Amino acid sequence: MSTRRGFIKSGCAACVLTASGMSFLESCSTPLPMVKATGSNANVVEVAANSFTAGNMLVVRTKQLEYDILLVKNGASYKALYLRCTHEGVGLTPAANKIFCSAHGSVFDLDGKVVKEPALRPLTTYQTEVINNQIIIHLS
Ligand code: FES
Repeated sequence: MSTRRGFIKSGCAACVLTASGMSFLESCSTPLPMVKATGSNANVVEVAANSFTAGNMLVVRTKQLEYDILLVKNGASYKALYLRCTHEGVGLTPAANKIFCSAHGSVFDLDGKVVKEPALRPLTTYQTEVINNQIIIHLS
């Protein structure tokens, strides 16, 4: 009888941990809007300018890169930041006005500059241009 009780107890604990783990992971994901994009060739990613439905930030996911790009709209210009930490190459999580690394705590601003170490170098930025309402991100 105590074996059955112990099984039920440990099973419930596992369920609670699993459930809380899931919500933790969900809370780690970026709350920003995301688009999947490709380009006409391997060196560009194209995003429709009307993809910015709310706010001035958009996460761009492309098969051309291992990590996402954060596209930041500033008036008529756009800044494209590669969401890969310059400390040890971990994927980053953008939030309202900062970009966070969960590995060792580095923080970057929306210009890609280091706000908090251990990262020392700014984020990789890509040149952008707008042609026919398409934001072209140049990867090289
Ligand atoms: S990999 Fe980002 S702070 Fe270390």
